[in-house]
Formats: sequence, C-alpha cells, structure tokens
Amino acid sequence: METLRLILLFVHVLGFAALIGGLLAQAGEASKRVNSAMRDGAGTAVVAGVALAGVLSAGDQDPDTTKIAVKLLIGVVILALVMANLRTEISQRLWLTILLLSIANVAVAIFWSPAHHWV
Ligand code: HEM
Repeated sequence: METLRLILLFVHVLGFAALIGGLLAQAGEASKRVNSAMRDGAGTAVVAGVALAGVLSAGDQDPDTTKIAVKLLIGVVILALVMANLRTEISQRLWLTILLLSIANVAVAIFWSPAHHWV
C-alpha cells in the first residue's frame, strides 16, 4: 500500500509539473493556448489525485475529507477549463485563472494537513 501511495504521488506530481510547466512556458507569449502538456498534466494530476485519495483512505492515514473535496473541486474546474478550450486561443485572463487555480491546489496540498510529514 505504501509503495502504491508513493507511485501515485509520483505520477500526481509529474502531472502537476506538466500542467504548471505547460502554463509557464507561455508566460511571455502574447497568444496563449492549451498545449498538450497542460491537457495531459491536468488529466494525470486529477486521475492520480483521486486514486491517491482512495489509497490514503483505504490505509491508515485517513486524509482530511474537506481538503480532498476542495482539491477535487479545484482540479475538476481546471480540467473543465482546459478541456473546453483545447483547440482555441485562450485569453490572458483564462491563462492566469488556470495558473492561479493550479497554484492554489499546490498550496492546499502542502499547507492543509499534509498526509505525510518531512520532520
Ligand atoms: C490539477 C490539480 C492538482 C494539482 C496541481 C495538485 C498538486 C499537488 C502536489 C504538488 C502535491 C504534492 C504535495 C506533497 O508533496 O505533499 C499533491 C498532493 C496530493 N494531492 Fe494533489 N493536485 C491536484 C489535484 C488533486 C486532486 C483532484 C486530488 C484528489 C481528489 C488530489 C489529492 C492529493 C493528495 C491526496 C495528495 C497527497 C497529500 C498529502 O500527502 O498530504 N490532488 N497535489
């Protein structure tokens, strides 16, 4: 179970990195769009996140339900915004919204009762 949790966390963080990387790679560009890194990253982060929450619940480290619900809500909104705008140019405002939502989900993961501790 611990190995599965670590593998899912690893995949989850790779998804998050692809999403943020795909967003930041366009930071200086006048014309922005949903690139494949953002699409695949958002999908990977949400699917692995849900699985991770499931594994944590099944094990002995019950995750904070409210935290998971907030993460799921933010994740689903990100995924919906990404999937709804796949083949079109997106506004600076939408790009910034997706970036801020992504950063918000990292903040929730790190600061809101983390399931694992470093110290
Ligand atoms: C695109 C949206 C998301 C981003 C950017 C994101 C980002 C992250 C990051 C960076 C971590 C690592 C934090 C750490 O090392 O402690 C993390 C952990 C985690 N995420 Fe996500 N996440 C997203 C969506 C989700 C969703 C939808 C769920 C579940 C419904 C979820 C559940 C979790 C869980 C259970 C952990 C481990 C928490 C812990 O160890 O305290 N995430 N997330």
